[in-house]
Amino acid sequence: MTDQTPKRLFIKTYGCQMNVYDSQRMAEAMGAEGYVETDRPEDADMVLLNTCHIREKAAEKLYSDLGRLKPLKAGRPDLKIGVAGCVAQAEGDEIIRRMPLVDLVVGPQAYHRLPAMARGEGPAVDTEFPAEDKFDHLPQRRATRRAPAAFLTVQEGCDKFCAFCVVPYTRGAEVSRPAARILAEARDLVTRGVREITLLGQNVNGWHGEGAEGFGGLIRQLAEIDGLDRIRYTTSHPSDMADDLIAAHRDIPQLMPYLHLPVQSGSDRMLKAMNRKHTADQYLRLIDRIRAARPDIMLTSDFIVGFPGESDADHAATLRLVEQVGFGTAFSFKYSPRPGTPAAGRALVDDAVADARLKELQALLTRQQKAAQESMVGRTLGVLFEKPGRLPGQLVGKSDYLHSVFVDAPDAQIGDLVQVRIRESAANSLAGELV
Ligand code: 5AD
Ligand code: SF4
Repeated sequence: MTDQTPKRLFIKTYGCQMNVYDSQRMAEAMGAEGYVETDRPEDADMVLLNTCHIREKAAEKLYSDLGRLKPLKAGRPDLKIGVAGCVAQAEGDEIIRRMPLVDLVVGPQAYHRLPAMARGEGPAVDTEFPAEDKFDHLPQRRATRRAPAAFLTVQEGCDKFCAFCVVPYTRGAEVSRPAARILAEARDLVTRGVREITLLGQNVNGWHGEGAEGFGGLIRQLAEIDGLDRIRYTTSHPSDMADDLIAAHRDIPQLMPYLHLPVQSGSDRMLKAMNRKHTADQYLRLIDRIRAARPDIMLTSDFIVGFPGESDADHAATLRLVEQVGFGTAFSFKYSPRPGTPAAGRALVDDAVADARLKELQALLTRQQKAAQESMVGRTLGVLFEKPGRLPGQLVGKSDYLHSVFVDAPDAQIGDLVQVRIRESAANSLAGELV
């Protein structure tokens, strides 16, 4: 390779949207070192796997993906292989011990140091929680492709300590970025053509940074930015749905009518065992207040089935709660013990029972998702075009409610925010026409 050829970086992202954001920031940091991104690991000078530790299979997947890189590394000893994210944080040197082809392991709080590590000027494994704020040591945001919707991390870590969850250990205590930094990053994104920002945090509505009265106050300040047409946020904890945040859903038209509010279970006994800090009834009353503020809001959730000690009655309570709320969509998972978490040593529910419960819950959630999608037919919704569709002249964008919508719009462009009359509902998307 000559000096004129840029180095190439391949990043694979596992897990949540916060990892997607971190991958973008790492790509920007490596961009400042002369790396450009590639979609093909075979072409890369550096392969970076940005991992997730939330559920068992994600870590297994990392090790099998690393195994698959062996032939590539064998033929190209100068290829650098890095592991970032929450598995990097949790496993540290163990990753290099188990997979010696890995050159670098960097945790989610230390990735501003990745360029130095890649230059061989840092340690091979960095899983510190440094005193400095990584965001102060990262290059400015860069528009990588024409993308009118962007993520912006406003808060990291979690102090809630749900009994099943590794996040408080891998991502550490809650840290909120100051409002001024968030607003500057948002304005910068808007000048680069971004019209929709999804605010990210492991416990985003627990944001309590300097410069705004709580998360609702932060949203109110963001809503003042000219050209920022849509605001979303994820993921939230029910205990942090402050009155002012609920009021923001009523007052701020840019705040999209969509809320991901994980409940995990409908059984008070399980909620207590999970250390969720609220009852099923408190969740239902909260939903009532949110719907009073924004009647058309679409609600989504996460569920865990087969949590240790879960009985048939507990499972029935979850199904009941789902019936009562009516979710637009939801993610449901079979409990998997995570090392180091309070629930890790507890006796497991029989696997076949947990599988059957998961199937039953997912069938109900799928019915609700279908009904919610079909209820959009005949309505006129905002759609922000994000990419070309399958057919010529077609564009795809997200509706206010985050459904993918296919529209024949030969004269429109990516980045246009248009009104679309929904004509039909397909398996995982809607189709409509411009009004
Ligand atoms: N087992 C199964 N699901 C889990 N989640 C978090 N930890 C676990 C676990 N140990 C789910 C929760 C959470 C979502 C991001 O992942 O439902 O809301
Ligand atoms: Fe994990 Fe609970 Fe924190 Fe969510 S609120 S990140 S599930 S500990």
